[in-house]
Amino acid sequence: MTLKTRDALPTPLDYTTLPREELRDRILARKAERNAVILGHNYQRVEIQEVSDFLGDSLALSQEAADTDADTIVFCGVHFMAETAKVLSPEKTVLMPDPRAGCPMADFVTGDALRRLQEEHPDAVTVAYVNSTAEVKAMSDICCTSSNAVQVVETIDPDRTILFVPDRNLARYVQERTGRTNIIAWDGYCYVHDDLVLEELDRARKAHPEALVVIHPEARQELLDQADHITSTGGMVRMAEEHDALILGTERGLVDQLRARYPGKTFVPLSGAAVCGNMKLNTLAKLAWCLDHGRHEVVLEEGIRSRAERSLRRMLQVSGGWTAPTAEQEELELAGVRPKGCGCG
Ligand code: 13P
Ligand code: SF4
Repeated sequence: MTLKTRDALPTPLDYTTLPREELRDRILARKAERNAVILGHNYQRVEIQEVSDFLGDSLALSQEAADTDADTIVFCGVHFMAETAKVLSPEKTVLMPDPRAGCPMADFVTGDALRRLQEEHPDAVTVAYVNSTAEVKAMSDICCTSSNAVQVVETIDPDRTILFVPDRNLARYVQERTGRTNIIAWDGYCYVHDDLVLEELDRARKAHPEALVVIHPEARQELLDQADHITSTGGMVRMAEEHDALILGTERGLVDQLRARYPGKTFVPLSGAAVCGNMKLNTLAKLAWCLDHGRHEVVLEEGIRSRAERSLRRMLQVSGGWTAPTAEQEELELAGVRPKGCGCG
């Protein structure tokens, strides 16, 4: 199917009248025309997951964004994830199907508020969870995701105070795992994970006593204390390969993905209400519109982008997903030749 620009329909609403098969065909054809790659987070709707070239957690998606050969990255996730892709691949066009898909946790900390805290603790190291704005990343020393937060914090001098933003639950988990007592946590949280409650866990456990309980570290301490395993969404996907029954303390989209992938296994949401409305703003209709029109493009001010890149690449280096460029690669880059993979492993 060859598509020409004139076939584009004016608004995302017009695309909702098209059958799902046609939407999928359009998405695949336009993706090939644009040499685009679709990166989808594990919480996306199943129909978005089905057309994604790469599905993963925040860390895996950042690594993929830093590494891809595509000209355009279409990010099906939330705003900070698309921003991260732009920070790591500034020469590429990064598109979002719906720019309103933000992460409320990321909005808990602004640049100004973080600056005030840094002024109170001038010798502290700032660690920004990737669920933060590019501005906050730019003001931080290093980033982390839910899958490498402990590893990242372990690289920091034990005597230095850490300002950990914006997730208080992840900060507390890292504090416990590292034994550090000098972490100052921002008072932010994820409304989806912070709302998980023990009563729901008890009910799920009674109904499925054979299942292991796996919970995301964005959940509260009393939940994490009851978990058999604590890990990121990517870690949960890996656990699903090895186990026949899991109770999953995270967003529903991941449960839907695992049920579709392993129909013979038992995957139970810890809470049926654990839905991230922001992630669900992306639909097939909006994705088709986005690829047809080349919108909505993520644009970043270069000063912020380059400083945020430094914090993100430090994280990728800790996670083994990036190696510092050699002197020869740096010279080539200075001469305007960006070496393939730009140092990313
Ligand atoms: P993961 O990195 O584990 O996918 O988490 C991202 C997120 O937004 C969890 O709410
Ligand atoms: Fe943000 Fe929570 Fe949604 Fe993840 S699930 S994107 S942390 S609001």
